[in-house]
Amino acid sequence: MKKSWLLVVSILALSAILLAACSGGGGGETITRQDPPADYAGKTNPVAGDQAAIDAGKALYETNCLSCHGEKGLGDGPAGASLDPHPGNLQAASKDASEAYLYWVVDAGGTAAGRSASMASYNGVLSEEEIWQILAYVKTLK
Ligand code: HEC
Repeated sequence: MKKSWLLVVSILALSAILLAACSGGGGGETITRQDPPADYAGKTNPVAGDQAAIDAGKALYETNCLSCHGEKGLGDGPAGASLDPHPGNLQAASKDASEAYLYWVVDAGGTAAGRSASMASYNGVLSEEEIWQILAYVKTLK
């Protein structure tokens, strides 16, 4: 009798852990990022660290990205609140992902990169230089 209770309790505990791991909620979520295709792979930011580019990027970020990704890039913008999945945390992304990957998601859009379709393609909306300016600014967010 005692043993079977122990078994039930362990099974319940185990399912709780599994459930928590699968729902991926909260801060510790793991994001699977695909590798960018050949025409993006290896790209690096030509304006990285350039203050004029960072200033331009800030203005562009505020008009184009802030509504979803939030003032500090934490994915907590007002327009992103009702989106599932929530807009990504760009501070984490710009630490963990390559510049080529970040450029690819913004240029080609979420669907192309296996992410949410709510992340639009900015190809034709922003120039290549403007996207790099935004990414240079995002790198400075704390
Ligand atoms: C309409 C809301 C919205 C706007 C506006 C928006 N995004 Fe996103 N963004 C998202 C969503 C939703 C995701 C995908 C989250 C997911 O699939 O997990 C995303 C994902 C991303 C990612 C990938 C993050 C990662 O962790 O891999 C990057 C980079 C990104 N966005 C940058 C930008 C930039 C730069 C802009 C402005 C040019 C922008 N986004 C504008 C909603 C938005």
